[in-house]
Amino acid sequence: MEIKSAEFVTSVADKNFYKSSYPEIAFVGRSNVGKSSLINFISRRKNLAKTSSTPGKTKLINYFLLNKSFFLVDLPGYGYAQVSKQEKTNWGDFLEDYLKTSKNLKCVYLLLDVRRTPTDQDEQMIKFLYFNRIPMKIVITKTDTLSRSQVANQLFMITGKLGVMKSDVIVTSSLDKKGQVELLSSIESFVG
Ligand code: GTP
Ligand code: MG
Repeated sequence: MEIKSAEFVTSVADKNFYKSSYPEIAFVGRSNVGKSSLINFISRRKNLAKTSSTPGKTKLINYFLLNKSFFLVDLPGYGYAQVSKQEKTNWGDFLEDYLKTSKNLKCVYLLLDVRRTPTDQDEQMIKFLYFNRIPMKIVITKTDTLSRSQVANQLFMITGKLGVMKSDVIVTSSLDKKGQVELLSSIESFVG
């Protein structure tokens, strides 16, 4: 699949999720894992989604229309320590509500930083998706930060810890522009 057009459509901050007849693909993961960067990378647009080295940048649900045929949905990151407990609960509810009620949601891509051990929240998200029968794929991000053999070791650790199959894992680097073809063909299989 080639991305011919990408446009920001809307942001929502409350539970009035955007309704359309287009299929939706959502990106989730802890704050700072590289969700917004990955959306820019696969859209081949530098500043479509706002990125930041400060965690917690994306606090809204952002909808991007690609090829005028499907939405990429940038979800707020979880696990950002610098927010109050109340705020965390609100974000969690907001996220879960979106995931449970979006009728056109075709697949959730859960992003994991190659350097990090998956957190309890990552595991909770995987269980949540599984119990709600929402298709999920894992995207490993920032592989440019490690050597090839370190990446292989981390992949072994991550898939083992999460109990996921290698075939459900897509390995990427937005910086080095790696994994675009694999990610786009996976997305195509859900929206095509
Ligand atoms: P929140 O919106 O806070 O949830 O973060 P996010 O998951 O959208 O992350 P974002 O794309 O804003 O990236 C966070 C930081 O990671 C930024 O400083 C990016 O430059 C950096 N980053 C993203 N992708 C890559 C990558 O492939 N390689 C490297 N080395 N850094 C990356
Ligand atoms: Mg973001």
